[in-house]
Amino acid sequence: MEKFRVAVITSSDSGYAGQREDKSGPVIVEFVKNAGFEVVHTTLLPDDKLMLEMEMARICDENIADLILTTGGTGFSPRDVMPEATKAISHKDVPGIPEAMRYFSLQITGRAMLSRAAAGIREKTLIVNMPGSPKAVTECLEYILPHLTHGLEILTEKTSNCARK
Ligand code: MTE
Repeated sequence: MEKFRVAVITSSDSGYAGQREDKSGPVIVEFVKNAGFEVVHTTLLPDDKLMLEMEMARICDENIADLILTTGGTGFSPRDVMPEATKAISHKDVPGIPEAMRYFSLQITGRAMLSRAAAGIREKTLIVNMPGSPKAVTECLEYILPHLTHGLEILTEKTSNCARK
């Protein structure tokens, strides 16, 4: 299997200020490493739309990672802006991935409907938002990660064949 490169971005004011430990970022790192991905970059940023946009756009435009996984900033807090930042810098919307996460997560908790997570493509990088808690990111990754590989193969032109194994 192609070893796809992953960047992990945590959006958290309290984490950035050093007032709360970022647990979800490291959970994603461990999860994707165990699934055979290469983690090339991790960042902890405040819930600041411009900073999030600049970091995500840089990773895409400099071809640093094939996949950006974000955690946090998808809820209803006035400071939550991760979906807005993702949509602002994406060239293509990928609605199916957050739809699938919400569909799956709703069977665990009704609060999954409160996640405003988005996904998009910029250049040859896929960006996927996930909720903020370690529990939620583990649940979402278990469901979506096995299917992302095929999307990344097509996005990076490693294959054009959708035949199902
Ligand atoms: N999805 C899963 N799989 N498991 C969860 O526990 N929590 C929900 C939701 N999605 C949850 C989930 C909750 S409580 C909220 S408020 C939203 O994600 C948004 O989370 P965020 O504000 O941390 O980004």
